[in-house]
Amino acid sequence: MTLDIGELYPKQKEFCRATNKYICYGGARGGGKSHVSRIKMCLLALNYSGIQILLLRRTLKELRENHVLQLQKLLKGIAGYKESTKEFIFPNGSRIVLGYCDNESDVLQYQGQAYEVITLEEATHFTEFQFQTLTESNRMSGNMKEKFNPRMYFTCNPGGVGHQWVKRLFVDKHYKETENPDDYLFIPSLVFDNKYIMENDPQYIKTLENLPEDRRKAMLYGNWDIFDGQYFSEFDRDIHVCELFEIPRNWDRYIAFDYGLDKFAVLFFAVDTKGRAYVYNQIHKEDLIVSEACQMLKSYMRGQEYKAIFAPPDLWNRNRDTGKSTAEVFYENGLHLQQAGNNRVQGWLAVKEWLKVRKKRHEQTGEEIKESDLVILKSCNTLIEYLPQMQFDSKNPNDCATEPHEITHICDALRYFCVSRISPSKEVVNNELRFNFDIEKPLNKDYGEEIVVI
Ligand SMILES: Nc1ncnc2c1ncn2[C@@H]1O[C@H](COP(=O)(O)OP(=O)(O)OP(=O)(O)O)[C@@H](O)[C@H]1O
Ligand SMILES: [Mg+2]
Repeated sequence: MTLDIGELYPKQKEFCRATNKYICYGGARGGGKSHVSRIKMCLLALNYSGIQILLLRRTLKELRENHVLQLQKLLKGIAGYKESTKEFIFPNGSRIVLGYCDNESDVLQYQGQAYEVITLEEATHFTEFQFQTLTESNRMSGNMKEKFNPRMYFTCNPGGVGHQWVKRLFVDKHYKETENPDDYLFIPSLVFDNKYIMENDPQYIKTLENLPEDRRKAMLYGNWDIFDGQYFSEFDRDIHVCELFEIPRNWDRYIAFDYGLDKFAVLFFAVDTKGRAYVYNQIHKEDLIVSEACQMLKSYMRGQEYKAIFAPPDLWNRNRDTGKSTAEVFYENGLHLQQAGNNRVQGWLAVKEWLKVRKKRHEQTGEEIKESDLVILKSCNTLIEYLPQMQFDSKNPNDCATEPHEITHICDALRYFCVSRISPSKEVVNNELRFNFDIEKPLNKDYGEEIVVI
């Protein structure tokens, strides 16, 4: 009995060797993801007697076209296919069960079942609810004698109903307290990795190159920041996100925030002598009453001078009981706020203006480089995660949607900065100052927040 797996490419081998709980092979089209996922399922079934594997696609049609025929070919003489139950049965008791989840609730049929391995093909076509429901079935089935850590495999392209959860877990790696980062492995896929296509079907690359710009970025280069309905489609990690660096002392600093009991979202900005703004720190915290928000903000400011603290105009509304406005409470706490404009459409267009990508030539090399007026230091992970998720409002195409609400607060803070008048910082005339960077130390851990060392 021989399973002919042919030659696997380096990333496909990495996929096969991985033993993490959640392994995602995702990105551009045509990298060889489905090919290797089928092979891996067969290898697991042969290596571990009695293992139960569930391979899912969103629809029955996709399942037939993408897997049944190919698996029948691969497993000829090795495992028999039972059409009525859509499963491959191996002589050693292993099974590969093929399934689909057309509707949201179809996933419930797997509740109460147990599979050591679950594979979601085109995982971004599955909702987060479906993914989470399936994790409950990813456990030992009781048919295996050997020890095995149950795991799930995902293959996918950007875009689709599951784009957000796949991106959060595998690309942004933004975890909740209950999630263990070591459980998640992401292997980025590119069509250029696939020797078979490069040699036999170079026309396919041309097809991907001819896609409209956003789709091309996603499908040819595996860019996860692009997807349908994205308001800030200009956002590009390679251009808008940078490594941490020390903020020169002569750069003016600003703060902009959005305050509500549900979220206190704050961004810290430093502006260079050409007027480029760097978002260098953030706060994203819920359930803070005004005085607590003030204390927290002050602990982040650490006595540093700020040219302005921008806040939305509704903070100047008087509270009916106390007669005081939120802005007044900030003032009493030593924080003098400036009202930012609150015209949403104008504000979002201002953000787009700041994010606009310009092409220019490198002064020395002549090489073309792309840059924008707004850059985010990579430690500001909430802003980096949420900004590309902002969607168009379905009723007003110039506005951003206010749902999901969670993602809007920090983007509102960015809007308050972008709509305000900022001037470039002054050049340093004193040479001593030019090299005198202001290295800050994390001073306050009172709130359990990590303070970024800039
Ligand atoms: N190691 C390999 N050896 C030979 N052929 C391969 C190999 N890997 C992939 N291929 C072939 O390349 C083509 C594309 O592969 P596959 O369908 O697995 O890509 P994919 O990443 O799943 O694409 P998509 O993003 O469209 O789902 C298929 O014809 C597949 O059989
Ligand atoms: Mg595929």
